[in-house]
Amino acid sequence: MTSCRDSAVFYLSWTLLLGGAALFWRQRRACALYGRYTPGQAQGRCYPAGLAWFLQEVPALLTPLLLLLWSGTGFETGTLLLLGTFVLHYGYRSLIYAFLTRGRPVPLHIIVFSAAFCSLNGVLQGHHLLHCAHFDHTWMTRTRLAAGCFLFLVGLSINVHSDFILRGLRKPGEHVYRIPRGGLFELVSGANFLGEILEWCGYAVAAGTLPAFAWAFFTVCSIGPRAVHHHRDYRQRFEDYPPSRKAIIPFLL
Ligand SMILES: NC(=O)c1ccc[n+]([C@@H]2O[C@H](COP(=O)([O-])OP(=O)(O)OC[C@H]3O[C@@H](n4cnc5c(N)ncnc54)[C@H](OP(=O)(O)O)[C@@H]3O)[C@@H](O)[C@H]2O)c1
Repeated sequence: MTSCRDSAVFYLSWTLLLGGAALFWRQRRACALYGRYTPGQAQGRCYPAGLAWFLQEVPALLTPLLLLLWSGTGFETGTLLLLGTFVLHYGYRSLIYAFLTRGRPVPLHIIVFSAAFCSLNGVLQGHHLLHCAHFDHTWMTRTRLAAGCFLFLVGLSINVHSDFILRGLRKPGEHVYRIPRGGLFELVSGANFLGEILEWCGYAVAAGTLPAFAWAFFTVCSIGPRAVHHHRDYRQRFEDYPPSRKAIIPFLL
């Protein structure tokens, strides 16, 4: 794999890395204010979860696809494979998850921030894969590619299955919290987050590029602490919460 020297890619990747570190630091005390942490006074400026998740995630699906259409044809298989993993995830998140969610309404500022963030990240990953990175034929036969794609698919399966379990905890219109059971929830409170972290770590391993590693790092910093906050919340909420369950890393953390 080789990569062109593109200063926009370099600066955007470092923005993701530094932004991720800042988010991690901030979440040591308070979690991002949506879902179970939505402040009471924000209720007036919230939008239904399905609409919110569609609006905030769809830019990450559309930007790489528009860049692909705009850039013509003749791309290497490696480029299309990696772009495919990105589009597969955001196709699921914006078109399937968004329409099935039973989550509580989302504050407007979270929607605006997430949509802007997803647009930038979609442009960064799409532009770098389509216009900068070159994956030669030897790259296609490397163990790292197979391992990365395998990790991505395992992570995606865990993420989708965990979303399914969480959805099943509520009837339509309910906003109560129950103890999730089954799948990786038997081991960790943040099974959906663990799945997503594995996905993007797999993507980074397969791609081996700065933007892909920056995105995986940002994801760890963004939802790793959220899993820890959820774990604490479950322990406070439920006296019978399974004592052996960890927050995000099975048997460890
Ligand atoms: N890559 C990234 O940086 C990034 C950032 C954020 C999110 N995400 C992904 O987006 C997805 C959703 O994130 P999230 O932060 O909304 O996850 P979450 O807090 O676990 O909530 C997921 C959904 O399940 C519901 N839910 C959670 N726990 C429940 C329980 N015990 N009982 C009943 N319902 C429950 C939530 O409802 P409420 O909304 O009412 O709590 C929400 O609809 C995840 O797969 C995550 O990995 C990725």
